[in-house]
Amino acid sequence: MGGRVSDIRFEGITKEFPRGGGTFTAIGGIDFHVQDKEFVAVVGPSGCGKTTLMRMVAGLETPTDGRVLVAGNTVTGPGPDRAVVFQQFALFPWKTVRENITFGMRSKGASRAERDKAVAHYLTLMKMEGTEDSYPHQLSGGMQQRVAIARSYAIDPGVLLMDEPFGALDAQTRTIMQEELVRLSHVNPRTVLFITHSVEEAVYLADRVVVMGRNPGRIREVIDIASTRSEEHWSEEPIDDVMEKPSFTHLRGQVWRLLREEMGGDR
Ligand SMILES: Nc1ncnc2c1ncn2[C@@H]1O[C@H](COP(=O)(O)OP(=O)(O)O)[C@@H](O)[C@H]1O
Ligand SMILES: [Mg+2]
Repeated sequence: MGGRVSDIRFEGITKEFPRGGGTFTAIGGIDFHVQDKEFVAVVGPSGCGKTTLMRMVAGLETPTDGRVLVAGNTVTGPGPDRAVVFQQFALFPWKTVRENITFGMRSKGASRAERDKAVAHYLTLMKMEGTEDSYPHQLSGGMQQRVAIARSYAIDPGVLLMDEPFGALDAQTRTIMQEELVRLSHVNPRTVLFITHSVEEAVYLADRVVVMGRNPGRIREVIDIASTRSEEHWSEEPIDDVMEKPSFTHLRGQVWRLLREEMGGDR
């Protein structure tokens, strides 16, 4: 499916929710384009509408105004062209690792051979060989989230949506996951919208970082990471080494300053 183009286009998006007899504007006008195979991270103060924005791409929420287009088609509901990974592990506890990874593939009609190949491919990439027949409760939190990520990649969606997928992991596991996700997106480039609380995570993983502000939720600024870092990806090095590079600390400072301004009242 390599030739397919999957971009995300936000056109004049506003989102209102009913509140106290009136309406509350959660998102107040967003225009943005995520290019095909681009990795975009979104950071912003809590409540600025990150999750709402992602849910609209997933088709779980409808904009009050404007529209979201994926691969040129207006999103009207969920679909197999978009996979979602949330912070809470969403594995089927009664299914094995193999069954969890291939669940979406089965419903798309993949053959047994294709499914076996995908399981082997992703478990090798995720350094989880030999766990095919384990059940989620037999795995650590980090491993469970790796299976959830493998499953979303295995469906071969055009677009991957991740909402703080590493938020529930301890710091060490999180670092490993970040390194593996960089490697995975290097081998398997996809269009990714990735929400995170961590500025470091955003700068390390993304081609561009969107900094959002709130009241109402909007895009404050977009920082281009890809054109500033010298390499195509930070990928081949451990995150600790990357974090010491002047280009990295410069970008991190830039995102931090914007974020701190947006958080103003919170400190
Ligand atoms: N279903 C809903 N009904 C009412 N208000 C909502 C709903 N979903 C989100 N909101 C409100 O919209 C704002 C943005 O929420 P959210 O997208 O979860 O922010 P973030 O993910 O950036 O923390 C918040 O003020 C939240 O309370
Ligand atoms: Mg959220």
